Amino acid sequence: MKKQIMAAGIAGLLALGMAGCGGQGAGGGDSTDEATTDSTSTTGSDKSDITIGVAMPTQTSTRWIADGNAVKEGLEALGYSVDLQYAGDDIPTQTQQVDQMITKGDDLLILASIDGTALGSQLDAAAAAGIPVISYDRLIRDSEHVDFYVSFDNYKVGVAQATSLLFGLGLTDKEGNKAADAPSGPLNIELFAGSADDNNAGFFFNGAMDTLKPFIDDGTLVVKSGQTEFAQVATLRWEQAAAQARMENLLSANYGGNGEGLAGVLSPFDGISRGVITALQSVGMGDTIADGLPIVTGQDAEIASVTFIDKGIQFSTIFKDTRLLADQAVVAAGAMLAGEEPEANDTTTYDNGVKVVPSYLLPVVTVNKDDIQAELIDSGYYTADEVASGQAD
Ligand code: GAL
Repeated sequence: MKKQIMAAGIAGLLALGMAGCGGQGAGGGDSTDEATTDSTSTTGSDKSDITIGVAMPTQTSTRWIADGNAVKEGLEALGYSVDLQYAGDDIPTQTQQVDQMITKGDDLLILASIDGTALGSQLDAAAAAGIPVISYDRLIRDSEHVDFYVSFDNYKVGVAQATSLLFGLGLTDKEGNKAADAPSGPLNIELFAGSADDNNAGFFFNGAMDTLKPFIDDGTLVVKSGQTEFAQVATLRWEQAAAQARMENLLSANYGGNGEGLAGVLSPFDGISRGVITALQSVGMGDTIADGLPIVTGQDAEIASVTFIDKGIQFSTIFKDTRLLADQAVVAAGAMLAGEEPEANDTTTYDNGVKVVPSYLLPVVTVNKDDIQAELIDSGYYTADEVASGQAD
């Protein structure tokens, strides 16, 4: 009963807030809004009968385990109950999990989709039941019922990946300024993108290609396979094995089977990077970059890849602090449940095909071997032992 009253109240307040505030940050600035509850306060009311459904895509990648744990802990610290589900990267499993969250009467949903276009009917049902929806890291597309989006600056992730590739190839410094002693090339590279049904994959690829284009246009970089279109280089479900298989094919079709002449690989995600590296190592290109392994980029600072970076096997990753992302989701959820509009810092970029979704975007950090201590160990993201062993607790 209390849930129904809450839900109706939230729906009304959200409708008011969205009509009235044009998507700008909230925090109780609207004087006509009667709900003045501090979204982060746990005082006064018992929140344990408010349940937040959290749907994560998969546990095969350590980043999503970290995300799920951090969101759960953050919400529980505020007193909410949490219904955390993983879908094994299977779309029907995820739609079923979200259906169940709605029928059980969860009060708010935080969803990291597998296929960004597959949750439309679930979002319709959530809206009909007055359940607000936060899209987590991956934007849910083609639905007007996405109330808020928390993520990183995904275009900048792509820029950072390409910049790191250029740096690794000696063409620029770490910040992307042309290097004085740059090799004249041509240098051969290959490109990988993420899963085409994940809205982020296009942002990463566009950011990367805008950055690489001048070097491709002037002949410094050559994509020897000729595969430069997103559709040609995408990796369904971001799958490591699929990336390894495609890299093996690229090596045999374009690099004499032993990788000769391949200088670098743009990889958008650490799982893909490790698949690519396995393929490169297995044709004898070397065990480490110092031995002749090409420059391979990444993303997510997954522990296995951080260890590879530490050992000079993978060149870089893009660190997206899942603790900060989880915090933002928790803060936004608290605000929405208090009838407030969560604070956005971007209200123009993320058009999901139906509406521009107000977003809170976090910054990203490029991590090379030299940055592991400061960015990942000193910040408490991993311990030195975890980096040494390649396994996080
Ligand atoms: C994306 C996400 C990346 C990476 C990838 C594969 O949506 O933004 O950080 O995790 O999925 O899981």
